[in-house]
This record gives sequence, structure tokens and C-alpha cells, in this order.
Amino acid sequence: MFLCTLHPKILTKPMHKPVALITGASAGIGFEMAKIFAARGYDLVVVARTAKKLKEIRTQIPAHTIVTDIPLDLSLPNAAAKLFAATQKKKLKVDVLVNNAGFGSNGRFVELDRKNELQEIDLNVRTLTELCHFYGKEMAARGTGKILNVASTAAFQPGPYMAVYYATKAYVLSFSEAIMEELKPKGVRVSVLCPGPTHTAFVERAGMQGIRLFKNKFMHPMSAVDVAKIGVKQFLRGKKIIIPGFMNKLVAFANRFSPRFLVRKIAASLNRI
Ligand SMILES: NC(=O)c1ccc[n+]([C@@H]2O[C@H](COP(=O)([O-])OP(=O)(O)OC[C@H]3O[C@@H](n4cnc5c(N)ncnc54)[C@H](OP(=O)(O)O)[C@@H]3O)[C@@H](O)[C@H]2O)c1
Repeated sequence: MFLCTLHPKILTKPMHKPVALITGASAGIGFEMAKIFAARGYDLVVVARTAKKLKEIRTQIPAHTIVTDIPLDLSLPNAAAKLFAATQKKKLKVDVLVNNAGFGSNGRFVELDRKNELQEIDLNVRTLTELCHFYGKEMAARGTGKILNVASTAAFQPGPYMAVYYATKAYVLSFSEAIMEELKPKGVRVSVLCPGPTHTAFVERAGMQGIRLFKNKFMHPMSAVDVAKIGVKQFLRGKKIIIPGFMNKLVAFANRFSPRFLVRKIAASLNRI
């Protein structure tokens, strides 16, 4: 009935599907988020280092989803500029940017590999910041867009034995909260997702298998599927700071009212092997 009243040109015009660009979409939380965005009708731009794993996404999402995979090491200088140039060249209008790629490292700071620690800062902080600038600027000019940055509950306190990782995530939280205020009047919504311990390959890469954070009886690691489901749902609803799971919310809340020395000691005992 309603369709009959529409102008014929509108009926023949191809519908623009929104595009979600997800970094670190080849595994873990990012892979699950990619599937959820596809199921919600988004086309995808997926980025990670492993080209083969990016291709696998196509096998798990609706066939009509257009997937552009861009294999790229986002810890390298100019990676953000390269990614932005690639999407510009393909004339892709990114409606949603999810800065999810990240990694951590466990151990005494001075004994960890310096190059790896700096790569962690480059990926978790530098590239995330650059991508927010490139795509945030474009979204602000358009007057619409959404950005989801993946931090961690690590953002809420210092993390002895994962010093650099916790500091990078504190940056992501602080930076995201700041730009969400700046970009709101420009029509761009920014949210930050703060998962707690989650079962993914992140744990092995960081060398965290043996630590108490993943072994204590109070904090059961969540699945990547659950974190992604909660994350995407609350992000699209406009929630600003998303902490999946009751215990994770409780810990983040309790940290705000606990003496700093105690928070440091507890984090140290949870992160030490
Ligand atoms: N798992 C947890 O307990 C936990 C808790 C809180 C927050 N987080 C955060 O959640 C996010 C996702 O982590 P996850 O647990 O899903 O980890 P994951 O399973 O290890 O996935 C990480 C993703 O990032 C990509 N990636 C890693 N290094 C990259 C690089 N240099 N350039 C481009 N892509 C890169 C990986 O693909 P390639 O290896 O193919 O590049 C992969 O797709 C991270 O920001 C992490 O800090 C995780």
C-alpha cells in the first residue's frame, strides 16, 4: 500500500547498505563482531594481518554481504593512512569504525622485549588514534557516523606485570571519552567497549595462560561471542561505556572507590605468574 505511493525512481534506486570497518576481525572478539554486523545488514571492511583468516569470514555470514578484506599490519607506521587511502580508493563510505585490533604482553616490564612493547603502543594507541582522526573527520564532515573503540577493564587501574598493556587501555578509555563529547554535536557517536577476561587467542599471545586473572574462581572468562553480542547491541543502542558481564562491572566500579595502593597490589597478584 505504502510502496504504491512512492515515486518510481525511489523504488528502483539501489539501497545503500551501511558499512562497518572492523580491525582485528580475523579472530576472537573482532571476528564475532564482524558476523553480528553482517547479520544486522552491514557490509564489511575487515582488517588484520592474516589474509587467509580474513577470507574465512565470508563462509560464516549471509551471502549477500559485501566483504572487503584488507590484510595489513596495523602496528606499522602509516598503516592507518594506508587503510584510509584503500577505503577512499574503493569509494567505501564507512558508517561504523570498530577499533578492535590489539594485543598485550605479560611479565616484568624491564624483562619484556622492548620492540614488542613499542609495537603494542603503536597498535593499541597510535593506529587507533590515527584511525579515529581519519574516519572521525570524514564522519564529522558528513554529520553522521559511529566509532567503537575496544579498551578493556584493564583501563580502570594500573596493571603491574602488564604495565604497557594496561596503560594503553587507560589511554583508549580516556581518549574515547574525550572525543565522544567533541564529536557528539557533529553527529558522530563514540563508544568504548571494556571487556574483562575473555577466552581468545589474546591470552596465549600475551603469555597469560598461567596467571590468576584467568584462574581465580570469581572471574570466569567470558566467551568472545557473548562479549561481541553485548558490545554490538549496546553500541548500536548508543551506550557510551560498555562493560560486559556483572563481575567486570563490579570490579570497574569498586576500583573507583578503593585506595590506589590496594588496587595496584590486587592487580599485581592477579597478573603475576
Ligand atoms: N581476550 C581478552 O581477555 C580481552 C580482554 C579485554 C580486552 N580485550 C581486547 O579485545 C580486543 C580483541 O582481542 P581478542 O581477545 O579478540 O584477541 P585475538 O583473538 O588475539 O584477536 C586479535 C585480532 O587483532 C588482530 N591483530 C593483532 N595484531 C595485529 C596487527 N599488528 N595488525 C592488524 N591486526 C592485528 C588479529 O589478527 P592477526 O593476528 O591476523 O593480525 C586478530 O584478528 C583487543 O583490543 C584486546 O586488547 C581482550
